[in-house]
Amino acid sequence: MDKYNVLLIGGGGREHSIAWKLGQSEKIGKLYSAPGNPGTAQFGENVSLDVQKFEEIADFVDDKNVELVIIGPEAPLVAGLADFLEEKDIPVFGPKKAAAMLEGSKEFAKEFMMRHNIPTADFAVFSSTDYDDALKFIQTKDTYPIVLKADGLAAGKGVFICDNEEEVKQRLLYIKKDSSLAEAAQRLVVEEFLEGEEASVFVISDGHTSHIIHNAQDHKRIGEGDTGLNTGGMGAYSPAPLLTHDLLERVKKEIIEPTITGMQLEEKAYFGILYVGLMITKDGPKVVEYNCRLGDPECQAILPSLENDLLELIIAATEQRLDEKSIQLDNQYRCCVVLASEGYPGKYEKGKKITGLNDTDDKAFIFHAGTTENAGDIYTNGGRVLNVVGSGNTLEEAIEHTYANVEKINFDGCYYRKDIGAKGLKRIQN
Ligand code: AMP
Ligand code: GLY
Repeated sequence: MDKYNVLLIGGGGREHSIAWKLGQSEKIGKLYSAPGNPGTAQFGENVSLDVQKFEEIADFVDDKNVELVIIGPEAPLVAGLADFLEEKDIPVFGPKKAAAMLEGSKEFAKEFMMRHNIPTADFAVFSSTDYDDALKFIQTKDTYPIVLKADGLAAGKGVFICDNEEEVKQRLLYIKKDSSLAEAAQRLVVEEFLEGEEASVFVISDGHTSHIIHNAQDHKRIGEGDTGLNTGGMGAYSPAPLLTHDLLERVKKEIIEPTITGMQLEEKAYFGILYVGLMITKDGPKVVEYNCRLGDPECQAILPSLENDLLELIIAATEQRLDEKSIQLDNQYRCCVVLASEGYPGKYEKGKKITGLNDTDDKAFIFHAGTTENAGDIYTNGGRVLNVVGSGNTLEEAIEHTYANVEKINFDGCYYRKDIGAKGLKRIQN
């Protein structure tokens, strides 16, 4: 096949950056994005498919001669979209439901790591009917902070770090009562608190062979200095100076290889992108979480560094030919700042006109997330609105180029963190 018609599932900043990268491929035919955003529309056609209706997706694929489906977000993966399409002989890039459980169930992920000696925090699991036992367990342990985690997908809202017994009691009560957590918290993981600094490594796997694509560091909290509420991610930088060559070798040997081999041994071959969230502790790297997809906004910071043709890489993965490939990076630093609507991650307003999008220079990319187009103008349409990704020969330069372009863009209530990358700079300067 010379050219591939592709359907990309998702509509965030991650998907705009994927669409941009696919758009550079020699092999791309027509690109459809569902639902997409004004950014993905620059590289193909946005289609309003209901991604929860698998049959609707399969019909669309048939109708439009789509030759490959790429799934961006976790929810359709954990719900089994890859399994459904594969049963219909539709080539798809993304793990099957059983493999996506590495993200879909923290209990599964923790027990999997135990079975395969993969370093992670100590833990215990309780069901929603025995939270009293969870409390007793924590009281006996009497070590704080301690981490409570809802087992299932909770869009970043299911993890609580508690500093004392009183907070544990309050949180347990809250988890019990909050209906939005009811399903995710049917099982509860109680976890040892890991001291250290976080970083993420992104891996592509065809079930047997895996390659690290790149690494990054995210800023999950809304406020400067990593304060305030957790968000989907307010910015990222790549690579993370924290991850030295030696550390990355350890991550490969102690974490990535045993994960891919372990999933193979358990007959749940991991096929797609594996995102390994790490805590670099004084005892070495430990897994904080697995995700079954590219991170958002980490993806926006790493894809511009990838010199490989992304579509070729993905096709090689779908054909179990990743052993023929190696990852090529451009050795530039990248910094990604998220422009958000005032109030996010709580309530916020939509429909604010965005100005300055055409004033940015060639040292930065703008990736859309929560935006919408109307009569040629772009308006806010979500909590995380835009991503500005600057490049540089050093991290310092990448940060400078990013913020110089951030300042050119405006909308009513535009909020962004001014310290993205500062943690990485501090590490380099020390
Ligand atoms: P998770 O959804 O499991 O990645 O957790 C969200 C965030 O909570 C992580 O990115 C960490 O910042 C923090 N976190 C989770 N588990 C731990 C842990 N065991 N020790 C320290 N921090 C943690
Ligand atoms: N930025 C964190 C995530 O994608 O889960």
